Amino acid sequence: MGMIFDETYRPFFENAARDGLYDRRFGLCEVELAAVATRTGKRAEQYRNAAPAALKSFASFAGDDAITQLLASDVDVVCIATPDDRHFEIARAALAAGRHVLIEKPSVLSLAQLDELARLAESNRCVAKVVYHKLLDPDHKKLRTLVADGLLSHCNNGYCSLLEPKSISGSQFAEWITGRNPGTYVAVHYIKLIDFTFGGRLKRVHCTGQRGLVGPADGPTWDSTQLRLVYAYNDGREAAYDIHTSWVTPDNFPGYVEQEVQFRFDNGVWNGHSRRRGVECTIEGRTPIATKININNHYNGTFLEPDGTRAQRGYGVEVLEKFAREVAFVEYGGPASERDERLSRVRSLSYNDLAADRQVVAAVQAMEAILAKHAAGTSDCVVHVNDRHGGLVLYAPGSSVAEVLYAGPV
Ligand SMILES: NC(=O)c1ccc[n+]([C@@H]2O[C@H](COP(=O)([O-])OP(=O)(O)OC[C@H]3O[C@@H](n4cnc5c(N)ncnc54)[C@H](O)[C@@H]3O)[C@@H](O)[C@H]2O)c1
Repeated sequence: MGMIFDETYRPFFENAARDGLYDRRFGLCEVELAAVATRTGKRAEQYRNAAPAALKSFASFAGDDAITQLLASDVDVVCIATPDDRHFEIARAALAAGRHVLIEKPSVLSLAQLDELARLAESNRCVAKVVYHKLLDPDHKKLRTLVADGLLSHCNNGYCSLLEPKSISGSQFAEWITGRNPGTYVAVHYIKLIDFTFGGRLKRVHCTGQRGLVGPADGPTWDSTQLRLVYAYNDGREAAYDIHTSWVTPDNFPGYVEQEVQFRFDNGVWNGHSRRRGVECTIEGRTPIATKININNHYNGTFLEPDGTRAQRGYGVEVLEKFAREVAFVEYGGPASERDERLSRVRSLSYNDLAADRQVVAAVQAMEAILAKHAAGTSDCVVHVNDRHGGLVLYAPGSSVAEVLYAGPV
């Protein structure tokens, strides 16, 4: 029940409790916040006090066996919004208990973990999905539409940057930031955007980064990272993408995060800047700390609607509702005898299915391995994907030794 719970899950559950979830395929589905599992239970009680009446009655489990207790209770779906190195164990337990699962990005940190979750989802006939809300950003939907319709052809190269404020590394994540990097946390948004929008096969992964602000200059904790992915396409051509991330941008930056992309095609250039979509608002004594000058009204905005009601909505909330609809369709969208068919339709949605996250997880695993080598004294390693030694193979400069990170094909 951390930041992302408050930004997107809370409004999703509140909207669903108020309006229900209606769809011609399954009728009215009630979505109930049945139970939560947290480390101490404090945030659960804080939320209970603030929640609308319809949402106050959830069960709250805390402590070391909170997940076991949650899974023993009457929940159908488990949403996992813990720090990224704590997704796997919880997802594995939930899928093993036959619960549908939604995991915050990045889904997991290695292909071995992904294989295990995919196997459990398959054998227990569960929906297992990951949240990549940037795929629902209207600007990214337009980019994909132009590519799919052939108006933009063959992306040759591009860059993406996502800079998070210092408050993320300095206070919000301070407790578990040791050994972590901002690439795993936010480059994944753009890895997925590139992978999903342009297709192709991931071939090589390079990465470097800087240290010295969040932790010591020779330690394992990274301030910023620069990741390069090389993709190959069926026509023999390649594309390269640079993704720069940081979590040490000054807190008085005019926007909450800086997000910019440029993609260069054979016949065009796409420039996107999520912070400069149109609104700048200065309020004396508030901006840019208490509120930001550049506001993203598309992700998850709070609004006074024209009809006088208050709302919180945007693609960050919409992506959760889409997942709930997919689960409701599997469970209630027709006769029980056709459940498997509905399940396989929902699984074929590659924008969020765990099984379709392979190249993204491969890039994350490669990036983490390269950064770990760098921290241990060997910089500039490269990871090749699906070469003659294995699926994910790390090479250090000047060494002929192939270190196999993952043996099977990616
Ligand atoms: N979709 C997005 O754009 C987006 C944005 C931010 C974060 N995230 C993802 O959401 C996840 C959480 O990020 P956040 O920003 O909310 O972090 P956060 O630090 O604000 O919250 C994480 C919460 O998990 C709790 N926690 C830690 N270990 C736990 C455990 N074993 N069981 C139960 N609770 C536990 C912590 O106490 C904390 O309340 C991360 O995977 C992150 O990448 C996604």
